[in-house]
Amino acid sequence: MTQEINSPFRYAGGKFYARKLIAEYIPEHDFYIEPFAGGASIFFAKSKVDKNLLNDIDEDLINCLMTIRDHSDVLIERLKGEQATKERHAYYKNEYRPRTKLDRAVRWFYVNRTSYSGIMKTQNCYWGYGEKYSMRPENWPRNILRTSAKLQEVELTSCDFEKVIEEAPDNSFLFIDPPYFNADQEKFYVHSFEKEDHFRLSRTLKKHSGRLKFLLTYDDSPEVHELYNWVHAIYEKTWNYTINRTDDQKNGTNIKGARYKGHELFIVNYDPFKQRNLFDSTLDTQKILEKVL
Ligand SMILES: C[S@@+](CC[C@H](N)C(=O)[O-])C[C@H]1O[C@@H](n2cnc3c(N)ncnc32)[C@H](O)[C@@H]1O
Repeated sequence: MTQEINSPFRYAGGKFYARKLIAEYIPEHDFYIEPFAGGASIFFAKSKVDKNLLNDIDEDLINCLMTIRDHSDVLIERLKGEQATKERHAYYKNEYRPRTKLDRAVRWFYVNRTSYSGIMKTQNCYWGYGEKYSMRPENWPRNILRTSAKLQEVELTSCDFEKVIEEAPDNSFLFIDPPYFNADQEKFYVHSFEKEDHFRLSRTLKKHSGRLKFLLTYDDSPEVHELYNWVHAIYEKTWNYTINRTDDQKNGTNIKGARYKGHELFIVNYDPFKQRNLFDSTLDTQKILEKVL
C-alpha cells in the first residue's frame, strides 16, 4: 500500500498539521528516510516510494511499529475489548509489567492513544482521551491494519540519528525533524537531546550534504540560522492548527477547539522549486530568508 494515511500515533511535536506545506518542498526521490521518525506523520501522509526507512532512538516506539508491521493480527487480538478509561490508562502506565515485545507494543499503543498529546515520557504522561475527538478503541483495528499495509517492506531501526545519516545510500532524501533547539521539548520525549546533539546533527549533515538531499525542520532562532548558514535556503513557514479542548488538560471537557499557529524553519540543501512551473503561485509567496549560496 502506498496511499496517504494518518499516523497511527498521537505524537507531541508531530508534523500532521504542516504535512501539506512540507509536501510542497519534498523533491522527487526513490529512497526516503526519517532519522527522527516519532509518529512519522510525513511518511504516512505522503505516497510511499521504492525504499523507506524510519528510525527513532525510542525503542518502544519502533517496537510498536514493528509489531504493527509484522503481527498486526495478534496486536488487534490483544487489544480486543479494551475500553478507553482513566483506570485502564493508569493500569497500563503504572502497573502493567510487559514481558514480551508484544506486551510492550500493546502497552505502548494503548497508552499513546489515550494520553494527552500522546506524550509517553512517564513524568508527563497523563490521561487525555476525549470521546468526541480521539480515535475510539473500536476503530483501532482498522487503523492498525491500514498502518500495517503501509509499513510492509519499510525498514525500521532504533539507533542514534548519526548512524542513520552516515549509512544512508547516496541520493537518498531525508526528512529530518529533531527535537526543537530552544523550546522545552525535553518533557515530551523519553530520550534527551542536548545542545551538543544539535551541533553534531549540523556537522553530520554538512559532511554528507554532497550526496544526500535533506529537508530539516526547526524552531526559528538565531542559533539555528547560524548553525545552517551553509545550506541552500532557509524558509520561514507558518501554518494554522487547532487543539481540541478535550485534549487540553487545563480546560477539561470544553469541546471547542483552540486555534494556534505553527511557525518553523524549513532548511533545505537543494532547490525545492527547480523543476516546478515557473508561474507556480507558491513561488511568489515564499519568504526566502537566505538565498542560494
Ligand atoms: C519532533 S519528534 C519527531 C516527530 C515526527 N516528525 C512526527 O511527525 O511525529 C523528534 C523525535 O526524535 C527522537 N530522537 C531524540 N533523540 C534522538 C536521537 N539521538 N536519534 C534519533 N532519534 C532521536 C525522539 O524520540 C522523537 O520521537
